[in-house]
Amino acid sequence: MKKFFITTPIYYVNDKPHIGHAYTTVAADVLARWRRLEGGEVFFLTGTDEHGSKIAQAAQSQGVTPQELVDRESQKFRDLWKDLNISNDDFIRTTEARHRETVGKVFERLLKKGDVYKGHYEDWYCVSCESFWLESELTEGNCPDCGRKVEKLKEESYFFRQSAYEKKLLEFYDKNPEFLSPKKRAQEMVNFVKSGLRDVSVSRLKEKWGIAIPGDAGHTVYVWFDALLNYLTASDPKIWPPDIHLMGKEIFRFHAVLWPALLLALDLPLPKKVFAHGWWTAEGEKMSKSKGNFVDPRALIPDYGVDGIRYFLLREVPFGADGDFSMAGLTARYNSDLANNLGNLFSRTLTLIEKNFGGALAAAPPGDIVQGLAGKLKLVRDAYDRLAFSEVLEILGAVVTEANRYIDEKAPWNLVKTDKAAAEKTLAECLAVLRWLACAFYPVMPASAALMWGQAGEDSDLSQEALKVLEDPMHGWTPGRKVQKGQILFQRKNKP
Ligand code: MSP
Repeated sequence: MKKFFITTPIYYVNDKPHIGHAYTTVAADVLARWRRLEGGEVFFLTGTDEHGSKIAQAAQSQGVTPQELVDRESQKFRDLWKDLNISNDDFIRTTEARHRETVGKVFERLLKKGDVYKGHYEDWYCVSCESFWLESELTEGNCPDCGRKVEKLKEESYFFRQSAYEKKLLEFYDKNPEFLSPKKRAQEMVNFVKSGLRDVSVSRLKEKWGIAIPGDAGHTVYVWFDALLNYLTASDPKIWPPDIHLMGKEIFRFHAVLWPALLLALDLPLPKKVFAHGWWTAEGEKMSKSKGNFVDPRALIPDYGVDGIRYFLLREVPFGADGDFSMAGLTARYNSDLANNLGNLFSRTLTLIEKNFGGALAAAPPGDIVQGLAGKLKLVRDAYDRLAFSEVLEILGAVVTEANRYIDEKAPWNLVKTDKAAAEKTLAECLAVLRWLACAFYPVMPASAALMWGQAGEDSDLSQEALKVLEDPMHGWTPGRKVQKGQILFQRKNKP
């Protein structure tokens, strides 16, 4: 069995989970489900990043201890993932003992090796981004990333000898062109490394809310050094290295440069791929605390369903590009693709079978659409390999449209009056497509896919059967099995 280790970033707990966090996690979930369906041994990791000044400040302003704050807030991420049907295999929190142990060991090992050393730090720090900046990097004296005020830090500090890995990193990028993805973001990283790597500060002297440095209790580990190591803590050595780290573009550099440099220093194999997706705005504006315009995915569930949201996030924007979340966009996409196209195909096919054939059809030799599904599967596989989720859904959408057009052309509601056998053959072709679609939509819309599978008359475990049906659409087809039309899959929405 091919192992597949996939991760999301671990999320800061000082913000409530929003649609941006859900995006990465849903994408990772879809890939994890697809790989499991393909027979892979998947390990899907997510979690929360709980140390650092930002958390300490948030706790202080709320009058709670940092531990109380992180316990409460981390749970919100877990709860949302449960609601969004996320199939993660582990959930790591950086405040767990298993993680403190890893960080301590790594720190000691690098110290012993000379790749971590004690020196003095004097530079600018942005608490909001938890990032260090050179004076020359500031924008009008403020953080070049978020525009907020930076503070001057002058303190004793431990450094990671990142500079020693410049050449090795460049060699690695060169030999592994798939590592930095998507391609359009790769060059920026290569240029950054080529421009010369500095050693990086990996400790904080005044920050108490962090992992204490072994044998030097005044210091705590810098939150990014701590956070990146979560992937190592949670991994069984047997599945190392990760196959894909997914993240938003704003933290690509940490994963593309500092993280592999750390792993090189530890003599550990490097991840196969780091993939940075784009950012969502909300109704045309950047989501921010000050604007209070974070989109809460949970609030959308009653109207659009978990699967409506999962579908929209992956269909609307090519993975890697930026996108805008709008209620009008969500409603339009939901209505056109799910209610009017996919839902309608199920509803009309099953109604015709129930009305004219007592709900059950005889076997029929596969026609053109069903024969074309092997080619579609090939395209779907290729798109998943490129993390092109929107393409996967476009390919499946085209199958739905083709089947709807086929029904329109054949008009089985008329045909049944003149040539019942031909009408049955038409509907059998459609039913075979429905079974295949249930399997194909499973990674993106697991709950709806299970409903579709049941409506097509199947009572076996969809996730077990899916690969077989995808590869051979007639697999498990039982003549005479009754379909179960049941509930409407996607209820049409009025304009928001
Ligand atoms: N804790 C760090 C990551 C450490 S990983 C070793 C962090 N956390 S975060 O809470 O700020 O989450 C950042 C991630 O959330 C992004 O990389 C991205 O995956 C997701 N997103 C947050 N806002 C987003 C958008 N507006 N749009 C798309 N994704 C966004 O950084």
